[in-house]
Amino acid sequence: MPERFPASLQQKIEDRLRYYEDLGIRLFYTDRGPGGTTIVAPEPIASVSSSAPIIEETVLPKPTTKPAPAKVAPVAPPPLVVHPTGPSLFETMGKVKDETLLNIREDLGDCTRCKLHKGRNKIVFGDGNPKAELVFVGEGPGADEDAQGLPFVGRAGKLLTQMIEAMGLQRKDVYICNVVKCRPPENRAPEPDEVTACSPFLIRQIDSIHPKVIVCLGATAAKTILNTTRGISQFRGEWLEWRGHKLMATYHPAYLLRNPPAKADVWKDLQKVMAELGLQLPKKSKS
Ligand code: URA
Repeated sequence: MPERFPASLQQKIEDRLRYYEDLGIRLFYTDRGPGGTTIVAPEPIASVSSSAPIIEETVLPKPTTKPAPAKVAPVAPPPLVVHPTGPSLFETMGKVKDETLLNIREDLGDCTRCKLHKGRNKIVFGDGNPKAELVFVGEGPGADEDAQGLPFVGRAGKLLTQMIEAMGLQRKDVYICNVVKCRPPENRAPEPDEVTACSPFLIRQIDSIHPKVIVCLGATAAKTILNTTRGISQFRGEWLEWRGHKLMATYHPAYLLRNPPAKADVWKDLQKVMAELGLQLPKKSKS
């Protein structure tokens, strides 16, 4: 019979396993090492990367919030895999210097620049650290976000929060925003005129934050920002360059809720982002 853990440790183990479960990592194996330590390895990652997280039951990997650059393998220079159909308005807009998010929010005001304003309850400007090294860009607010005025607070948002925490970060460490700031009716994709009206604000937000890495969540955000018609699965997980920032597209959390096996791909992508940001991957134990 396995030894019982103290309730607090048991809770931590359950929380941690839930992270991995939510990332699509369900298969674990155990191996009793010589010192009696039980090694638990999330299987899909172990088969993908030599820096796969291996978790000791007794010391669960506490997400490390401090970067440890020395331990991170260098990342190859980013190949540009997306061939834009033409320069997008995201690329043609000049850099706006020395703006704060507050200035930009004030400028947005009680926006009526596109038709989306008619159906909205709240503008969802963005949320998080104005000096974040990592920015997530989604498509547009849904019902929960429209009600609260905050991005990614519904079911998909909860999964995004777990993904961020699995990276060893908290929501307040990153910045989260969307291509459009008002909810499209029935959660449809934003239309070109809406993107055209709203995108200057997204660009100004990103220019103001000046993150090391941008992660586009889902096909709409990725295709809109990169101005490409290519399917996201063709360039997901690849490092791209956009307005002087490293950018990676990955699947949208809402897609992961419908298609849980894709969580393993997203976790691979997020591990690349972690390496780029010098975030420590969960420690690998000797067996
Ligand atoms: N989906 C998005 O793309 N953005 C949100 O803020 C919420 C759900």
